[in-house]
Amino acid sequence: MSIPLRTDVEELFDVPEVRVAAERIMPEPYRDFVNNAGMEETLRGDVAAWGELNLRPRALVDVSNVDTSVTVLGQQIALPVITAPFIGSSFIDPEGEIASARGTAHAGSIMTLSMMGSRTPEQIGPESAGRYWQQLYWVRDRDVVEDMVARAVSAGASALCLTVDLPVMPSFPGRMRDAAQALGEHWGAGEHSMYVARDYRDRPFGATFPNPAVSWSDLEWLRGLSDLPLILKGIVRPEDAVRARDHGASAVVVSNHAGQGLRYSMPVAHALPAIVAAVGGDLEVLADSGIRSGFDVLRALALGAKAVLVGRPVLWGLAAGGAAGVERVYSILKDELAEAMAITGAPRIADIDEAVLAPVRMSARNG
Ligand SMILES: Cc1cc2nc3c(=O)[nH]c(=O)nc-3n(C[C@H](O)[C@H](O)[C@H](O)COP(=O)(O)O)c2cc1C
Repeated sequence: MSIPLRTDVEELFDVPEVRVAAERIMPEPYRDFVNNAGMEETLRGDVAAWGELNLRPRALVDVSNVDTSVTVLGQQIALPVITAPFIGSSFIDPEGEIASARGTAHAGSIMTLSMMGSRTPEQIGPESAGRYWQQLYWVRDRDVVEDMVARAVSAGASALCLTVDLPVMPSFPGRMRDAAQALGEHWGAGEHSMYVARDYRDRPFGATFPNPAVSWSDLEWLRGLSDLPLILKGIVRPEDAVRARDHGASAVVVSNHAGQGLRYSMPVAHALPAIVAAVGGDLEVLADSGIRSGFDVLRALALGAKAVLVGRPVLWGLAAGGAAGVERVYSILKDELAEAMAITGAPRIADIDEAVLAPVRMSARNG
């Protein structure tokens, strides 16, 4: 698929505008896939749940210097926003994840490379200024996982991010199924990074992913493969966050895969507070799914997240303008977050607390 001409991304005002620019030029099957066509419920619920959290201004705080920087797993980043792992980048940019990594690095944040991405750890590590996480799916062949971990370590990864919310592939309805099939044909040609990284083509993709048999006891093996901190992505229940901690994870990403996993999953905004209450003192709690603005970032942090991951906003930026589009999305999110921090009287990230949010019951009572 050829990639048409780009937009002047500096003229795009917010993430919805980046999305419009991106969707004009995204190939239709990928656009349907990204939009969860025909199974939008969970994603819609996520976006709505963030939006329902009303903010409260705080008066007369000196906010002449607002600092959005934060430290996540020992690495300082310019804002509490990290690029989520996602597949399909090569449909929307000739450089694929290399462009996302470059845009993310220029913005001063962390790039997470999907194990099913179209570029290798060796290509992403050098573009990421030392801020690169490797996402893993626990495929059926342990040697594939082992190999990815080894390659990520030597490419300079600073954390491993194991996605735990897809023990089986969801049965996609209608357009989503058609989209996945069209994309699958492309990937069947060996575009997945796990195939690019080593010749696994004797083992077809479907024969190795997903792996329904993985359970908590397997984590010890994975942790033994490297010294890198382990992040579990796709935690929604507090008791799973406690297990993650007890099995040696350093962080969790509260995530419902933004609707591409369990249909009708509860929104992340509703799941986050109980998880922060259960493990927030021991683990770094990150969140994703449906974050669309710097105001949503503030909302997630007010509920106790250390930082958020963004998938579609980065992906739309990549489609609209390559690395510059990704960087533009980061600068939009940063400016919005800084504005929201200033008006809610929280000049540093550590100043953001629950008081930024209007108490939910009180808002409901006041009608
Ligand atoms: C097109 C697409 C592909 C994705 N691929 C992966 C993947 O390979 N691994 C993974 O852990 N999550 C994957 N995700 C989920 C994202 O990492 C992230 O959880 C989600 O996109 C966050 O929600 P948002 O897109 O609303 O920001 C994918 C999401 C999309 C939209």
